[in-house]
Amino acid sequence: MIKSQIPIILAIDTSCDETSVAVTQGTRILSNVVWSQASQHAKFGGVMPSLAKRIHEERIEWVIEQAVSKSQFQSYEKIDAVAVTSGPGLAIALEVGIRKAKELSSKLNIPLIEVNHIEGHLLSPLAESRNYKSQIPSSKHVLINKIEEVNFPAFGLVVSGGHTELVYIEEIGKYKIIAATLDDALGEALDKAARMLGLGYPGGAYLEKLAREGNSKRYPLPLPMAGRENKNMFSYSGLKTAFYRLNEQIRNTNDDLNKQTVCDLAASFQDMAFKHLIRVTMESINTSEYKNISSILVGGGVSANLELRKRLRNMGKELGIKVYSPKNKKLCGDNAGMIGIAAGFKSVDDIRYMKYDLVDRKPRWKVDED
Ligand code: KG4
Ligand code: ZN
Repeated sequence: MIKSQIPIILAIDTSCDETSVAVTQGTRILSNVVWSQASQHAKFGGVMPSLAKRIHEERIEWVIEQAVSKSQFQSYEKIDAVAVTSGPGLAIALEVGIRKAKELSSKLNIPLIEVNHIEGHLLSPLAESRNYKSQIPSSKHVLINKIEEVNFPAFGLVVSGGHTELVYIEEIGKYKIIAATLDDALGEALDKAARMLGLGYPGGAYLEKLAREGNSKRYPLPLPMAGRENKNMFSYSGLKTAFYRLNEQIRNTNDDLNKQTVCDLAASFQDMAFKHLIRVTMESINTSEYKNISSILVGGGVSANLELRKRLRNMGKELGIKVYSPKNKKLCGDNAGMIGIAAGFKSVDDIRYMKYDLVDRKPRWKVDED
């Protein structure tokens, strides 16, 4: 039995290298604790699945307790359902969150809702502003503050370390991927470029900082897939190879890369990577069969990038659609708050409640698959 009119959800995400637990109610986030493992993976230059699993196991209990105590309810009794990311993500990392979620839902005798991680990123811009009265979630229109309402159908764009996808959102819960990457994801490409420049991991934010001081015109790079039909396909591997060669060339002529050169290289790579993203997104929207859409929701780690946000806003103006991004950095990267929000929409729809023994890891779960 649901205790509150709008169910209170404890959400867990252990899909990659963040151990995260949140308490949410509708689109309101009551607590959202993220334990980042990034510094422990940094020395490997990427996420080590076995290390991620071990840290999730060591931390999850503590993160759950933190999330509950930081929420306004501060007790397990008020929780109506447990939500968990069951994919996509690293199989052995996902398992940790799923096991814990099953344990909790069975102990508290409440339903378990499985959530697709990409759906979480897509819906992360819907998080309510503080002090706004919670609403009963509707899958067709969502108030995000006193005056603004996001109506569906809408487009969604996920830009993370593992995914670059443009999605048609018919209504919340009904998705169709209309463009995806052929190779690397945008965040992955930024991380690899940052690594070539000797920056830290994950590199997207470091690259952004240096790019601000750089001249993107100094080292021209090829626009990915230029000359090919620019729709429905992103690709970053060609740009990555060109960037690698450019770096080699510069290193062969200079002993050391000076600070300005590194900034200019960062600016060039970021500029082309974003130009390609915007070009394919615009082209795919313009040529899509979906008309009269007035919004696009953007989520994922790379959506924290201010330069990208600016370009997306300009894109929105050109297309005549409003761009919604997550309100803060925490909601851009991996976090359980977005998983709780996505689960909140499912909880109004009883058939979506899962019996806990049916929930299992789905490492390659696409957002438009059941
Ligand atoms: O969504 P996320 O936290 O994890 C995945 O689901 O993959 O995204 C992580 C990605 C990394 O590639 C990271 O470099 C990138 O997001 N990222 C950024 C910024 N902050 C994080 N990329 C560009 N600019 C940033 N400020
Ligand atoms: Zn993610």
